[in-house]
Amino acid sequence: MPFYITTPIYYVNAAPHLGHAYTAIAADVLARHQRQRGEDVFFLTGTDEHGEPVAIAAEEQGVTPLELADKNSQRFRDLMPLLEVSNDFFIRTTDPEHVRRVQEVLTRVRENGFVYEGTYEGWYCPRCADFKTEAEIGPGNTCPIHKIPLTREREDNYFFELSAFQGDLEKLFDERPDFVMPRHRYNEARSFLAGGLQDVSLTRPKLRWGVEVPWDRSQVFYVWFDALLNYYTALGFARGQQQDLTHKFWPATYHIIGKDILKFHTIYWPALLMAAGLAVPEHVFVHGFLLTPSEDGGEGEKMSKSRGNVIDPFQVIEDYGPDALRFYLAREVVFGQDGPVSESGFLTRYETELANDYGNLASRTIAMILRYRDGRLPATEHDPELTAELDGLAETVCAQLDRAEITTALEEIWKRVRRLNRYVEERAPWQLAKDPEQAAELDRVLATLHEGVRIVTVLLAPYLPGATAKLMAALGRTGPDDLAISAARCAPAPIEVQALEPLFPKR
Ligand code: MSP
Repeated sequence: MPFYITTPIYYVNAAPHLGHAYTAIAADVLARHQRQRGEDVFFLTGTDEHGEPVAIAAEEQGVTPLELADKNSQRFRDLMPLLEVSNDFFIRTTDPEHVRRVQEVLTRVRENGFVYEGTYEGWYCPRCADFKTEAEIGPGNTCPIHKIPLTREREDNYFFELSAFQGDLEKLFDERPDFVMPRHRYNEARSFLAGGLQDVSLTRPKLRWGVEVPWDRSQVFYVWFDALLNYYTALGFARGQQQDLTHKFWPATYHIIGKDILKFHTIYWPALLMAAGLAVPEHVFVHGFLLTPSEDGGEGEKMSKSRGNVIDPFQVIEDYGPDALRFYLAREVVFGQDGPVSESGFLTRYETELANDYGNLASRTIAMILRYRDGRLPATEHDPELTAELDGLAETVCAQLDRAEITTALEEIWKRVRRLNRYVEERAPWQLAKDPEQAAELDRVLATLHEGVRIVTVLLAPYLPGATAKLMAALGRTGPDDLAISAARCAPAPIEVQALEPLFPKR
C-alpha cells in the first residue's frame, strides 16, 4: 500500500526553530515505521516562500524576497538530515514546476465555476496571512494567536466559493470520523463548519510576491492556496519529467500539521480539492504546541522565534545528537496535545531514560554475553515469562502508529525496556555465572535478554535511527530484513555480539 505523508511547508521569513523540527520529526517517525512494514512511502517536506510575511522581512533586511527565500529555505533543507529526517523530496513554492501547476489547478477551479470577482472587506492578520471571520477576532480587533492588531483590508479580488462546499464537507465529516485526528480537533473543525462557511479571497491585488493569476496578471494567488497545493504539485515533479507519482500516491495518507493551521487544512483544503475534482486526503493529524514553561508554574506560551526561550535544535543536535532530540520531542509531550518543553526536562530524559534505561540495558547485555560466553551463544529457548510480555508488542505498536499515536506507542515500547531492566536484576546473571550447574539457565537468561533488547530496538528504530543502527550491528544483526517489523518477534537463533561504545554517553 502506498503511504504518502507530509509536513506543513515552513515559512522562510525566519530561521528554523524547535516547533518546526517537531512536525518534521513526528512525520519522520511515521514514515520510517511504515517503511519498516514494507509500505511504499513518499515523505514530503519543504518551504512556503510567497506572501506578505516574506516580502516584509526581505524589505526590512534590504534584500529581494527571493534572496531571503533562498537563504532561509536552505536552512530548513539543511536541518532535515541533521535531524535524521528521511524526506523523499523537498519542495519550494518558488519551484517553477510548482508555480505552473498551481496556476493549472486554480484555473480548473475557476472553470468549474467556483471563482468570482468581488470586493473583500474585513480584518486580516499579516502574521497568520489569514482573513479572520468575526468569530476569530480577539479583544480590540487583535489576532488571538499573535496578539497583534489586525489590519482592516478592502480590496478588489477573486473569491473562492467556499460556501458551496458546506454540504459536501458536512458529509465528509459524517462519513469519515477519522478524517481529522485526534478527536478533539475533529470536533473543533466540525464546529467551525457548523458556524457556516463564508467565501474566501483566492487572490490578492497588492502583493507582487506570489504566483501570478493567469487570467488577471494584476493579481497573485492568496498564499495559503498556493501553499496548500504543494502537497499535490510535488508528486508531479519530484522525480523529474519522466515519472509522475500522482497516480501512485494521491491522495495523502497523512497531513501532519500544528493546531494553528487547522482551518486551512481541514476546511479550505478539502473544499479546494473538491472544487478541482481531486480526491481529499485520508487523514489530517493535528498536533499541539510545544510551550515554554512559565515562571509562575502556569501552562506556558507557544514556543516561537519571536518569543525567545527556545531550545535551539541545531545546538542540541551538536551537543547530544539527533536521536536525543527526536526521543525527547516524541516522549515529553503527548502527540496531539500541548505541553511544556525545557532544557532541564531534556537533560532528565537523556540521563534517566536514554543513558540509563536503554543505553545501559544494551551495554550490560552485550558485556555479559562477552564476559560469560565469549560473545557467542547457540540457538536457545527463551524464558516464556518474558516472551509473553513481548508477544503482540509489534502489533500494538503498529495499531497505535496507524493512528499516529507516536507518544503512546513509544511508552508501550518503553514499558518493555523497563521490564528488561527488572529482568536483569531479578535473574542476576552474575550470580548464575558463579554456579556451573546453572550454565544452561545462564544461556537462557542471556539469550532472552538479547532477544528482548533486539525486539525493542527494532521497534525503536523510527525514533532513534542512529543508536538503533549501531546497536543492531553490535547484536550481529545487519541483514536487510533485520530492521523490518516482521523481525520484532521472538525467534531463537544463534547469537554473536560485538563490543558496543556507550550509545548515550553521560555528559
Ligand atoms: N507555512 C505555513 C504552513 C503551510 S502548509 C501548506 C506555516 N508555517 S510555519 O513555519 O509557521 O509553521 C510550520 C509548522 O510548525 C506548523 O505546523 C506549526 O504548527 C508548527 N509550529 C511552529 N511553532 C510551534 C510550536 N511552538 N509547537 C509545535 N509546533 C509549532 O504555518
